[in-house]
Amino acid sequence: MTTEPQKSMEVCVIGMGYIGLPTALMLASHGIRVKGVDYNKDVVAKLQAGHVTFKEEGLSELFDEAVRGGITFHTDYPSSGFYIIAVPTPYNVSDKKIDPSFVVNALKDVLAVAKDEAVITIESTISPGTVDKYLRPVVAASGKHVHLAHAPERIIPGRMLKELRTNARTIGADEPGIAKLVQLVYQSFCEGEIVLTDIRTAEMSKVVENTFRDINIAYANELAKICRKNGMDVYEVIRIANKHPRVNILQPGPGVGGHCISVDPWFLVGDFPEEAKLIRQAREVNSHMPDFVLQRIKDIMKEHGLADWSRVGLYGLTYKEDVDDTRESPTLQLLQVMKQNHLPAPAVFDPMVERDLVPRQSHDFEAFLRGIDLMVILVGHHHIREHQEDLEEKVVLDTRHVMQSAGERL
Ligand SMILES: NC(=O)c1ccc[n+]([C@@H]2O[C@H](COP(=O)([O-])OP(=O)(O)OC[C@H]3O[C@@H](n4cnc5c(N)ncnc54)[C@H](O)[C@@H]3O)[C@@H](O)[C@H]2O)c1
Repeated sequence: MTTEPQKSMEVCVIGMGYIGLPTALMLASHGIRVKGVDYNKDVVAKLQAGHVTFKEEGLSELFDEAVRGGITFHTDYPSSGFYIIAVPTPYNVSDKKIDPSFVVNALKDVLAVAKDEAVITIESTISPGTVDKYLRPVVAASGKHVHLAHAPERIIPGRMLKELRTNARTIGADEPGIAKLVQLVYQSFCEGEIVLTDIRTAEMSKVVENTFRDINIAYANELAKICRKNGMDVYEVIRIANKHPRVNILQPGPGVGGHCISVDPWFLVGDFPEEAKLIRQAREVNSHMPDFVLQRIKDIMKEHGLADWSRVGLYGLTYKEDVDDTRESPTLQLLQVMKQNHLPAPAVFDPMVERDLVPRQSHDFEAFLRGIDLMVILVGHHHIREHQEDLEEKVVLDTRHVMQSAGERL
C-alpha cells in the first residue's frame, strides 16, 4: 500500500463498541470511506436502522454526519487495504494475563479477506508483547503479507468526541512508512500530537498510563481508610495537601470500574509478578473498596438505628458519572460483595441505565426514594447533584463527595 491522500482512503473498523463506533463515525465524517463491522447482528441492525447503541454527548449528531459521509455497517468482513481492530481485551481472572482471544479471532477473520500489503491497526489495549507473542504468529500462519500497527485509544466516556479530536495519540509500527500511513488516517480528525514509535513501546505506554491512574486512585483510597480509622476528614486533608505546588492527590471513591483502569494494570501483574508489586498492591486496594463501603454501610446503619437491609438504596450503577457504561462498576462489585455476605438485595436506581440489570432495580426516582431509609451514592451523576433537596429526610452515605450537606462520607 502506498501513501495516498487520506480523502480517498477506505478504512474498515472491526468492533462497533464504545471505542470502535465513535472512531468509525469520526473518520467517516472527515472524508474517509468507512465500513463498520461487528459480529453482533443486533448491534449492526440497530446501526443500520439509524440508531446509536449507547449514550454519549454528541454521538447522535456525529452519527448523522457519518451517514451523510457514506458510512455503512456490516456483520461480514469486507476486503480492504486498511483495518482498525477495536474489540475487547479482558484479562484472565486466574493468572491476570491478557485474554487476547477477541483480538486474535478478529485478526484471523481480517486476514481471510485482507488485501495484500494491507495495514491492520490494533486499537484495542494490549499488554506489552501481545503483537509479538500472539499476533505475528497468526499473520505468519496465514501466509499473507500485511503490516501490523498499534494505535491505542485513551479517550474517556463522557468526553469521547472532544477527546478524540484533541488528545495526543501514539502509533506503533515496524516501519516509519507504515506509521506515517496510520498517522495520515488518524490525522483526518485528530488535532492532537501524534507520536510515532515501535509497537512494543506503544503497547507498554498505553498500559502504563492506566496503571498510573490506578496507583494514584489507590493512594487516595488508602488515605480514606487511614483517615476513617483516625477520625479525620480525608477530603479536608487532601484539599490542604493539594495546596503544595507539586502535590495533586485524587479523590477517594467506592472502587474502580470500567473497561480500562480496573483491567489493564493486571496485564503487568500477570506478566511481571515479581516486579509489579506496587501495581498489584494498588489494584488490590482499589478492588477491595466495595468491602470498605459495605463496612461503612453497616457502621452507619448501627449509628442511625437502621436494621432493615431492604430499605438500603444504592444510587448509580455505572462506573462513572453521566455515562451508561456499567462494566466492572463499583456498584456491581458491591452488590456481589453483599451477596457473598448473604445480605438481602438492596434497592438500586440509576437515571442513566434504562435496561434491567440487577434485582430490585427501580426506574422511578421517587418510588426508589419512598422505599429506602439509607441512600448510598456510588456515582456522582448530574442528576443527583440536582436532586440534593429530595434527600433531606434520608440518611446518606456519599462515597463521591458530591453532596453539599455534611452527610456520611467514606
Ligand atoms: N471503553 C473505553 O473507555 C476504552 C478506552 C480506551 C481503550 N479501550 C479499549 O478499546 C478496546 C475496545 O473496548 P470497547 O469498550 O470499545 O469494547 P466494547 O465491548 O464496547 O465493544 C467491542 C465490540 O467488538 C465486537 N467484537 C468482538 N469481537 C469481534 C470480532 N471478532 N469481530 C467483530 N466484532 C467483534 C463486540 O460485539 C462489541 O460490539 C478494548 O481493548 C478496551 O480496553 C476502551
